[in-house]
Amino acid sequence: MRRILIATSNPGKLRDFAGAALRHGVEIAGIPDFSSLPSVVEDGFTFEANAWKKAEAYSRYVPGEIVVADDSGLEIDALNGAPGVHSARYAAPDLLNKEPHEADANTDDEANNARVLRELKDIPTAQRTGRFVCVLAAARDGKTLATFRGTAEGMVLNAPHGTNGFGYDPLFYFPEIGKTFAELTAEEKSKYSHRGAAFRRFLEWCEGLTGN
Ligand code: IMP
Repeated sequence: MRRILIATSNPGKLRDFAGAALRHGVEIAGIPDFSSLPSVVEDGFTFEANAWKKAEAYSRYVPGEIVVADDSGLEIDALNGAPGVHSARYAAPDLLNKEPHEADANTDDEANNARVLRELKDIPTAQRTGRFVCVLAAARDGKTLATFRGTAEGMVLNAPHGTNGFGYDPLFYFPEIGKTFAELTAEEKSKYSHRGAAFRRFLEWCEGLTGN
């Protein structure tokens, strides 16, 4: 069975990826001692740039292994694509007195959601369109082999709904099934989410790999 290492310290992400991969004959594992490796600064202007940077950097620690890294976030059309690559630290001006691109720490979900709600306060419902984006990069020995993008289109509500999930899930209404992402079960989330879509593309690519 082919083994892929995922560059994450998030056990939830690892579990999600591992479950789906097994059905495709792919074994998913974490990078050994991941938390002791120097962290990679996510300063790219695109999800792709950050995913490449992480996958390439971490793959150098495990020669010959395929390493996958991801970057994701929420793009809101009325905010010209923000919070985008700054989704995890969007409330930096409120909490850290820094712009998101200067922040060296993530800010908590509640504060990030509060900033989004504040900025969309005067935007009518029909113009509150946006999407979650997830980009996965697969690299080996410091070189990117392939990139996979998944998106989920929806609307940003003016108040949170639902208690599952994380991040912007309670604000993100997904018209296809009439629920927010925070109202989805784990199975529904992996079926409809940007991360699930990118990961399925990655697994199709894995099936085409032959012995190299
Ligand atoms: P990262 O890719 O783990 O760095 O995530 C970036 C940020 O994007 C997270 O901290 C969340 O704020 C947001 N985000 C990414 N994917 C999701 C999702 O599936 N639901 C809710 N928020 C998400």
